[in-house]
Amino acid sequence: MLRREALRVTEGDRFEMWARAKDGAEAEVAPFVIREGERVLYRIEQLPPYFDFYAYSHFGHSELVVEWDDNALDVSLLYRFNEADVAQEGVTFMSLEGGKILMNGRQQWPQWYAAESGRPQLRFSPFKGWMNDPNGLCRIGERYHLFYQYHPNGIDWGPMHWGHAVSDDLYSWLHYPVFQHPERNLASLGATGGAFSGNAFLDKDGSLSFYYTERLPAYDLFKDYREVQKRMRPSSNLVRPVANELVLERTPPGVTHDFRDPKVWYDEVDGLYRMVLGSAVDGDAAILLYNSDDGNEWTFASVLYRAPRRFREGGARCAECPDFFFVDGHWVLIVGFVGFNEAETGRHNLLYAAVGDFRGGVFVPHSDELQELDFGTDFYAMQSFWDGHRQLALAWLFNWEFRKPEGSVYSGELSLPRLLSVVDGRLRMQPELGYRRLRQKRLDRPSESRIIPSLTNAVELTLRGDLGGVQVVGTAANGAAFKLAEVAGRLIIEMPEDDGKIVYRSGVFSLTQVTVFFDRGVLEIFANDGAMCGTRRSYRMADLANIEITKGTETANLDIEAWSLRSAWE
Ligand code: FRU
Repeated sequence: MLRREALRVTEGDRFEMWARAKDGAEAEVAPFVIREGERVLYRIEQLPPYFDFYAYSHFGHSELVVEWDDNALDVSLLYRFNEADVAQEGVTFMSLEGGKILMNGRQQWPQWYAAESGRPQLRFSPFKGWMNDPNGLCRIGERYHLFYQYHPNGIDWGPMHWGHAVSDDLYSWLHYPVFQHPERNLASLGATGGAFSGNAFLDKDGSLSFYYTERLPAYDLFKDYREVQKRMRPSSNLVRPVANELVLERTPPGVTHDFRDPKVWYDEVDGLYRMVLGSAVDGDAAILLYNSDDGNEWTFASVLYRAPRRFREGGARCAECPDFFFVDGHWVLIVGFVGFNEAETGRHNLLYAAVGDFRGGVFVPHSDELQELDFGTDFYAMQSFWDGHRQLALAWLFNWEFRKPEGSVYSGELSLPRLLSVVDGRLRMQPELGYRRLRQKRLDRPSESRIIPSLTNAVELTLRGDLGGVQVVGTAANGAAFKLAEVAGRLIIEMPEDDGKIVYRSGVFSLTQVTVFFDRGVLEIFANDGAMCGTRRSYRMADLANIEITKGTETANLDIEAWSLRSAWE
């Protein structure tokens, strides 16, 4: 059915749309047209059966008429924005439903984000579509920029774009236009790949660029693909890329297809640019080091880190998303090993840190043992950045073990922003304190052991004191429950979807304090001031009706503090 709606536009308004032909559609007319009076300004003559990208920029002020054929047009994502006010307004999402153009601008986002019962309220998630790794994190002026691995055309992983959002505090976000597209329309090739993960790099002269990987059109998810590194420069308002060059394409000896996720920094001591890349060398997950005099021509320097044999034996295919930074007088290397399964616990998607020295291009960890970063495993692809004062990080809350239930408009959520430090030779991660501004009220405690949360709001719970044997059970309105317990010097987490095959437990330590955030199914745990962290994501419990705390012994002294937090999207 042909639909027609008037739309008021101003100079510089831009519309971006991902669309395809509806299944079985027989278009007799052009499926999408923009007119000004009788004049056609933009017309899609015919839609392909796969999603394609369309954009229209308007010059002048006027009232337009948008015409579309409901039976022929299938839109996955559509929004408008104007570079003149995008920094205040972000994008306005649009949908063509029931013959009407519906606008969903920043004023509507609180409702949109509250609407899905399982959507976290303290954390970033995309408006719709699929998200994985955080990318290109940086602070420019007073603003934080988050880019992220994004697939606009579905809620599964697919051809990778870079989504983009900005924030003043890393809690409350404004959606920006999609920043980076795959080099080719991979959907038209029936291929995957695209603009993979990468970092923001602020040069000595203050100029910003992004280094990232392009996976060229790939027809196998696990082998035989090609990955190359690119350098992209953004427009001064960071709304779009203005230049993009291939800077590294050739792999060193022993490296085949995994060659990705660059992190670039300037080495003041040696006076050169350096890059680390996730890879595998002769089958061992490894991190490669490259050097450059200008940030454009890169030379292979060495294998910076090679994973111990047990990772290869446990199925690790390569190292992903390496991060390497200097904090509190130490160099910290972060790495994930895709494919690795830990035999003792069955866990996978673990992230590790090695803390050490880096001199003359050589990294010497203080210990041979890697530090497990998060025992819950729903914390992957962490990326950190220096905001001028602090080393901060975000990670992707997902581990491929459990999937979102059908019917959601999106997939993918980020962790709370974490503040990184090194204490006693180990990396610590604490929640960035901005969440305290979201505290609403202290929660009711009808008895010493019981807390009544405000059902759908996020909860922050801190326990201090004699924590040996302590147990916290949080129960949702539907009866599903999580358990967090101290058992023989370890923290364990159980979620409703667990069947005991995978054991989510920390290393052995002496628990003195623990802060737990529950946010619509996300459990993020920070113990001993962030020395031990655990993150789990349940899709079976979206709210919290009751919290029961059981002490390890009758005489144990517990100090309990519990808050309800309002949504960061409000
Ligand atoms: C990690 C990862 C990266 C890659 C990206 C692709 O989750 O596999 O190695 O760049 O996701 O989306």
